[in-house]
Amino acid sequence: MASTQGAEVLVASNRGPVSYELSPEGDGGTLRARRGGGGLVSGLSAIGPDTDAVWVCAALGDGDREAVRRAAGGLLPAEDTGGQRVRMLGIDAGVYADAYNGIANSALWFVHHMLYQTPLEPVFDAEFRRRWESYRAYNRAFAEALAEEAAEGAAVLIQDYHLALAPRMLRQLRPDLRIGHFSHTPWAPPDYFRLLPDDIAAELLTGILGADRAAFLTRRWADAFTACCHDVLGPGIPSGTRIGVHGLGADSDFLRERAHRADVAERMAALREEIGEGRRTIVRVDRTELSKNIVRGLLAYRQLLADHPEWRERVVHVAFAYPSRQDLAVYRAYTDEVRRVAQEINGEYGTPDWTPVVLHVKDDFARSLAAYRLADVALVNPIRDGMNLVAKEVPVVSDEGCALVLSREAGAYEELGDDAVVVNPYDITGTAEALHEALGMPAGERAERSKRLAAAGTALPPARWFLDQLEALGR
Ligand code: F6P
Repeated sequence: MASTQGAEVLVASNRGPVSYELSPEGDGGTLRARRGGGGLVSGLSAIGPDTDAVWVCAALGDGDREAVRRAAGGLLPAEDTGGQRVRMLGIDAGVYADAYNGIANSALWFVHHMLYQTPLEPVFDAEFRRRWESYRAYNRAFAEALAEEAAEGAAVLIQDYHLALAPRMLRQLRPDLRIGHFSHTPWAPPDYFRLLPDDIAAELLTGILGADRAAFLTRRWADAFTACCHDVLGPGIPSGTRIGVHGLGADSDFLRERAHRADVAERMAALREEIGEGRRTIVRVDRTELSKNIVRGLLAYRQLLADHPEWRERVVHVAFAYPSRQDLAVYRAYTDEVRRVAQEINGEYGTPDWTPVVLHVKDDFARSLAAYRLADVALVNPIRDGMNLVAKEVPVVSDEGCALVLSREAGAYEELGDDAVVVNPYDITGTAEALHEALGMPAGERAERSKRLAAAGTALPPARWFLDQLEALGR
């Protein structure tokens, strides 16, 4: 049952702009709404209040499911969403877990980021097929909700690898709609993509090709998608789907304003205490995500201290590794390994008044901005990354300008490569040398490069990124 008169613009994503926590107090428990930020939130606000827009997302946890029950499956209360019209889908918890953790995060994420240790994995067996049915059901729930909510000829922007099948499903239900799909991840090259069973590989591609337009963060990922279509489905793009590229940038106005509030100044003072007087900083801020390559970043830092003893006591690696996908054992193990290696380095090189690695694992946005402002060097060394906004944000916020050590496998490399110190993310020795070069970069050169990095990294701010996609779809 549609909850609106029919929206002109719709966005669909797994994670929505609001999440709920359920506490046991009160009749049936009290719900507390927490609003998130990010590109889609800024994008949707940019289309203005006159355009009817609805965001369809999934209930992620128990609090969200309770909120969906209280909204009787319709729109969430406007006071929880800042006025944004949000329809959250109360997909069965078991189906959701199989689709999100079992397929999207354990298979599709691994394929696109090339994370498998292939002698033993992946194993596409009967259990995988069972979960695939849940992935289909999850995509169908989105397609049905979008079909219900959309006005005649509306524009629908479907996000990411969670929702690869939804464009075709929606096309079948509503041929009148203009449908776009956007991939926020890298796209795997054909040889790696074809680890997937042939029928599943074809279903994923034809799912996305149900859209009028399939868009990516970089030309490299768009070309990989096209190459997979050729290899799996045959030459040409059978559906006539157009391919686009929109390189999401950082939001400089927001970042500069937010980074100069009092809570950030407080965090800066606390961090300065931890770092110690007059020391250089190598800053990284990531979710503790397998693709972010935090452990090799630490190993490279250890190598730097071994090969260039002149930096001992004179530099601190400030590493923020915030919890992510802790339902998956491999992510929990990776988090433990990050902690272990950081402790090892501190044990090996630390002195009574120098802690070589300052590691924080509790998410704190104000502290992240404080670290950005203090950064002499930003380390962004992912194995593979759709874009990596940290690489674009630190140069905007850093007080003195920072040198950027950047993996050539991050999408951001396409735009920032010229002014970064570029690394192969697997090469520890090479990354250690890059850190040495970045730390020793003359102040004038560093400031100049940082200015150019900030300009390139903010060329397509979130609102423009979103509007460009809508325009390309033909509003
Ligand atoms: O990088 C792709 C992406 O979908 C991002 O848009 C998002 O930050 C993340 O992955 C999803 O993470 P989570 O599983 O925590 O929602």
